[in-house]
Amino acid sequence: MTENQKFIRSVVRGVGGYLPACVLTNDDLSKRVDTSDEWIQQRTGIKERHIAADGETTSMLGEKAARAALANAGLTPSDIDLVIVATSTPDYTFPSTATQIQAMLGMTHGVAFDLQAVCSGFVFAIATADKFLRSGSHKRALVIGAETFSRIVDWTDRTTCVLFGDGAGAVVLEASEGVGDTTDRGVLTTHLRSDGRHRSKLHVDGGPSATQTVGHLRMEGKEVFRFAVGMVTDVVNDAFAATGLTATDLDWFVPHQANRRIIDMSASKLGIAPEKVIVTVHLHGNTSAASIPLALSAGVADGRIKAGDLVMLEAVGGGFTWGAALVRW
Ligand code: ACO
Repeated sequence: MTENQKFIRSVVRGVGGYLPACVLTNDDLSKRVDTSDEWIQQRTGIKERHIAADGETTSMLGEKAARAALANAGLTPSDIDLVIVATSTPDYTFPSTATQIQAMLGMTHGVAFDLQAVCSGFVFAIATADKFLRSGSHKRALVIGAETFSRIVDWTDRTTCVLFGDGAGAVVLEASEGVGDTTDRGVLTTHLRSDGRHRSKLHVDGGPSATQTVGHLRMEGKEVFRFAVGMVTDVVNDAFAATGLTATDLDWFVPHQANRRIIDMSASKLGIAPEKVIVTVHLHGNTSAASIPLALSAGVADGRIKAGDLVMLEAVGGGFTWGAALVRW
């Protein structure tokens, strides 16, 4: 790179999250299906999840998270020119949840679109926004993960309904000049993967084209578990290889919050110390694309994640899809 060439980085300016008011505890669930607080906590680490109120849609949760992230950044919707919403539970088949949130924010400029990679959606959306910002086409992106999985869970199936919850989280990314090495703030590298052969292991059994219904989430939990840790470690190691950084360089590991055992096994296999792992799954269950920005919000709010910290994000989801993003905060 010559001295005159700019190196653009997507720097995190703000983060925010939103959880709906209604809390459903494990004990509440044990009154609906044959389960127990002890079983759920032991197998998943989950203590409670939040459930959207009647009429409270994914876009409404996403708007609240977006406004929280904008406030945290000290920005307004007029400063944003790109909105990407990662969701598998859109308000409607179309228009996109992103355009709904764009309208709720009062934006008539810029572009907004949805991205669907299930639980990996937020990492896919960060990678996508980063490519837009680094290309120079856009200046500031709102990257939102928002979900209402309570609407697609089969509430009679104890093997899945205990795992999921509703919520939303968002970050504001801003194109800023860096020097082009790993001391830069911003997204340093992203690594995305998918393999469609695994559809049956984690899928929704309905959709507009196949069944003309919304459908319910179906999962072969043991099979997903079997693959998850390997997929996580592969993409995280890809991020280390691309940057020359290692697990000991990380300040924080912020994984998709699906299951405490998957998180602990992944961190252990990667050699990441337990005290560097941010865990919020006990508070909201698996909120799919919303889980990473919710965990980031918690880590920033309580002062753990600070400017300059090296943060590894990773997720695995239906598809299968999986991905990692290494970010200097
Ligand atoms: N309460 C009580 N018992 C239950 C429940 C429940 N909620 N669910 C299942 N059981 C029973 C089963 O019926 C089975 O009983 P049986 O032995 O009489 O047949 C027993 O518990 C053991 O069931 P398993 O499915 O073998 O339990 P396992 O230890 O695999 O735990 C779990 C299940 C928690 C789903 C686990 O497989 C898992 O976490 N998988 C990963 C799934 C995941 O996190 N998916 C999220 C999406 S993808 C992602 O984000 C990574």
